Amino acid sequence: MTVLKAQGVRKIYSLKGSSGYQALEDIDLRIEAGEFVGVMGPSGSGKTTLLNLLATIDRPTSGQIEINGMNLSKLSDKELALFRRRGLGFIFQDFNLIETLSVKENVILPLVLEGMPPHLIESRLNPLAEWLQIHKLLGKRIYELSGGQKQKVAIARSLIHQPPLVLADELTGNLDSKSAKDVMDVLKEMNERLKTTVLMVTHDPFSASYCQRIVFIKDGRLYSEIRRSSNRQAFFQQILDALSVLGGTYNDVPFTRA
Ligand SMILES: Nc1ncnc2c1ncn2[C@@H]1O[C@H](COP(=O)(O)OP(=O)(O)O)[C@@H](O)[C@H]1O
Ligand SMILES: [Mg+2]
Repeated sequence: MTVLKAQGVRKIYSLKGSSGYQALEDIDLRIEAGEFVGVMGPSGSGKTTLLNLLATIDRPTSGQIEINGMNLSKLSDKELALFRRRGLGFIFQDFNLIETLSVKENVILPLVLEGMPPHLIESRLNPLAEWLQIHKLLGKRIYELSGGQKQKVAIARSLIHQPPLVLADELTGNLDSKSAKDVMDVLKEMNERLKTTVLMVTHDPFSASYCQRIVFIKDGRLYSEIRRSSNRQAFFQQILDALSVLGGTYNDVPFTRA
């Protein structure tokens, strides 16, 4: 089953007094259910732009995006907002958690917004919290947590409504290398055990080495694609090689070591 299908996607940012800036050109991308896909490319290559389009936060200038068989261009802004809440999970670099709420309140927010009865919410929350080892943290406030713990809470929140697709943007960008490894181990397990389909934007070769497939963007176009065939260490090396061919700068966030 195809979870995501982007065809001929182009994005032009309109700028005052000019013809605009073309950030993406002719992007074709398919992701099948259960895949774990990375998107890499130099700073300014269009990664965040692409993610925003897939996340339905922004609309393409032309081209089509289908997620779970739903053609996004056919949806009104209101329908998109609902689609985003039900059909997608998000994990961000800066966690996007609500600092003044407890861990539990943050995680269950998507279900509370749906009006799910409390006993059903509990039955979703408990196994997820145990698995992520955040069950002892449920009563804490977000500001009491470490970066790695915050990202696990964000992962729990992205999964609680069992979305067909989880989108992550530089999710290890604010973590030290130990926490980055922890979080990537969790993401991999979530993909393997829960069969969650994941699309992750990263410029970090270590985090990317957890993916099964990586697509590289350069200057707003898909440039190449590699698939993992053997162990993670070997894939890490393949990624470094691909990046050196790609060129450009990678200065948005520091690299993590493998
Ligand atoms: N809102 C915007 N308005 C105008 N230009 C933008 C906007 N957002 C991004 N860009 C430009 O589009 C290009 C791609 O940006 P982005 O998608 O953020 O790249 P990446 O995430 O790969 O670093 C960059 O040249 C950037 O300056
Ligand atoms: Mg970016």
